[in-house]
Amino acid sequence: MNKPKLEIKLAFITGLREVVFNEISQYPNLHIVREKREPLYGDFVYFNFVEDFTKFASLRSVLRAYIIVQDLKYNPRYISNHKSLLGGIVSMILEGQDTKFKTFKIFCAGADSPTIRSIAEYIKNTYKLIETEEADLKIHIIKTEKTWEVGAEITPRQLSFRNYKTKHMSGAMDPTIAYAVNSLCDLEYAASYLNIFSGSATLLIEAGRYYPNLKQLVGFDNNKKIVSLAYQNIKKAGLIRKIQLKEKDIFDEPDLGKFDVITSDLPFGMSISKNEDLEKLYRCFIGYCQKTLNPQGRLAVYTSKHEMLKKIILKSRFKIVKTLELKFLTSVNAYLRPKIFLCRLKK
Ligand SMILES: C[S@@+](CC[C@H](N)C(=O)[O-])C[C@H]1O[C@@H](n2cnc3c(N)ncnc32)[C@H](O)[C@@H]1O
Repeated sequence: MNKPKLEIKLAFITGLREVVFNEISQYPNLHIVREKREPLYGDFVYFNFVEDFTKFASLRSVLRAYIIVQDLKYNPRYISNHKSLLGGIVSMILEGQDTKFKTFKIFCAGADSPTIRSIAEYIKNTYKLIETEEADLKIHIIKTEKTWEVGAEITPRQLSFRNYKTKHMSGAMDPTIAYAVNSLCDLEYAASYLNIFSGSATLLIEAGRYYPNLKQLVGFDNNKKIVSLAYQNIKKAGLIRKIQLKEKDIFDEPDLGKFDVITSDLPFGMSISKNEDLEKLYRCFIGYCQKTLNPQGRLAVYTSKHEMLKKIILKSRFKIVKTLELKFLTSVNAYLRPKIFLCRLKK
């Protein structure tokens, strides 16, 4: 058997390519060798394998990181006859962090077939892992557009998982999108940051963690329960002294001073603000931002109702300086196509 060519593969949300490439460029030793869009699986970038692959785990814009091998012949039968090929990858991932991995799952068509069962037995017996539905070690044997791929994720929770999330809040933002929104705002040069409709505080926490120069981080939301959940997350993130949260309604136009940056993940119907007139809410939001943003400041807004928002922005004193168009599958297997608008006040 030829020595398999190991690679690192990173998955990210379609539309965040520029943000992912920017983040990777901050690591001088990481060089992307190719990229790929797999219609069924999403957007990926690939790197030559490196021994200290755990450094990939600090990337904030990435959903998942894998060690993989690809070859036309790596179908399930071949892997079952050459189990050490997969075993080599699993050993590397478990090395030094085996206490974090207790369970495994093999993602593969025909997972109940004798071929895959024999691979599962091998993993169970060799690595003393338990096979479960929600697993720490996620192994895959998949047919991509052109070839077979075998691999596993390098972390027990996907990279975009953040341990400051104390409870699930329906409508909470994916942290890689929060990272993207913040990264568009030149936060290195900002002192004050306001997050309107702060929800579980994902944007505030991502900003507080990575931009120590931000002196003032303020958020508000009109839902008392959500504000208290957000405080629990902020506490867990160790940012209780840095972030201030208020229970306020945008329609009351709370006077909180002026800010260098405003970010927002707008309510968009469904589980949030079911009975609100969204257009009225968006108009009030843009009007409030006009009054609250410093003249040179930046406003970054994320929404699925982007057509409605765009119309309102175009009639306002803001100009749109950049748009990111995202696409991803929700937990109920529907495609969401939200946008991020970066805006500045017209001179
Ligand atoms: C899409 S969620 C924000 C989610 C947040 N980015 C997160 O990661 O958890 C929108 C939030 O807007 C809040 N909201 C809705 N109407 C509001 C209003 N009139 N004034 C203030 N907050 C409001 C909701 O309570 C909800 O938490």
